[in-house]
Amino acid sequence: MKILAIETSCDETGLALLEAEGGLRAPRVRVVKNIVASQIAIHAPFGGVVPGLAKREHIKNLPILYQNMFANSKSETPRSKRNQNSKFKSSKIDLLAVTVGPGLEPALWTGIEFAKQMYRQLKTQNPQLKLIGVNHLEGHLYSFLLTNKLLRQKSAKGGYSGGPATMRQSALGWPAIALIVSGGHTILIKMNSLSRWEKLGETRDDAVGEAFDKVARILGLPYPGGPEVERLAAKGNPNAIPFPRPMLHHKGYDFSFSGLKTAVRYHLRDHPLTPREDVAASFQAAAVEVLVEKTMRAAREHRARTVLLSGGVAANRALRTALSRAARRYGAAFSTAPLEYHTDNAAMIGVAGYLAFLRKKRLPLRANGILSV
Ligand code: KG4
Ligand code: ZN
Repeated sequence: MKILAIETSCDETGLALLEAEGGLRAPRVRVVKNIVASQIAIHAPFGGVVPGLAKREHIKNLPILYQNMFANSKSETPRSKRNQNSKFKSSKIDLLAVTVGPGLEPALWTGIEFAKQMYRQLKTQNPQLKLIGVNHLEGHLYSFLLTNKLLRQKSAKGGYSGGPATMRQSALGWPAIALIVSGGHTILIKMNSLSRWEKLGETRDDAVGEAFDKVARILGLPYPGGPEVERLAAKGNPNAIPFPRPMLHHKGYDFSFSGLKTAVRYHLRDHPLTPREDVAASFQAAAVEVLVEKTMRAAREHRARTVLLSGGVAANRALRTALSRAARRYGAAFSTAPLEYHTDNAAMIGVAGYLAFLRKKRLPLRANGILSV
């Protein structure tokens, strides 16, 4: 199946072409081309995403990305020469997948309208064409299927076991505990299989990515703050300031990050001469410790065989390293997408679209800003 995926839920316009095959027990997905047009420079002067501007930029970007997608549809993996030919003409698309939520509704609508327009146009060439709405959070959740590395339990050298460019779901052990960490969400999920899961907990206030962004602002760093805080933290002492570990010992699996952000603000008010790198490192250490401890507690309590990590904050190396180490120590496999698929992109929407198609799950083609998992 050839999939064209569209992502416009926030400030990244994303388009991706994928090839997918196999059923729910062993889906195989390959990214042929993944393009993201970032709007960072446009929103940066405002210190955050401005919905009206995001909408305008998506409307401008989508046709340009679409042209770019089919003008020179070179494969990402050189070994598959066959995909560089006419196979990827737009008329060969079998499935259109578009994010319907959660996110900024004016931004979501631009992707949905574009998908509908493409559907009407391409349907004349391929009457079998399908259009499917995708939950952005399922995109993050399934992004690990885009990986080409699987950190196996008891791997000989304790390192990555290099796999093929696509990964079979059957290589994973169930249940899995999945942590989704983004700018809008912090969610812990127990997956019994690719199609059955339950939410264990989520943040009660700020998402962890939001906390990174707010701490960045307190530290005078530009938007988006996550990568900036990480860069500064690398030069600081993570044990310099004992910031609180919110809800660490709380029985459930919910999170809370707004108090941690406030603790950073108060610390700088009371100790304005503290090196900023120590503040960044100590904040990051507190956030990572809570995320890792809670995820691993869920893994132990549910006897997880796999731990999954996704969402924009998964781009944080300190978090990835700490969680993969903790999972390995416990004896579970750890899997996460390659770096480029952590922050918002359409490739993950293509995977989630394929899975939604296999699961016969249909979402209304309407923007839903507060859609949940
Ligand atoms: O998944 P994503 O691209 O968009 C949402 O769905 O929200 O996540 C964006 C979030 C932002 O809050 C950004 O600051 C954070 O991910 N982020 C990071 C890093 N890279 C992105 N946070 C910490 N460390 C990073 N390296
Ligand atoms: Zn996202």
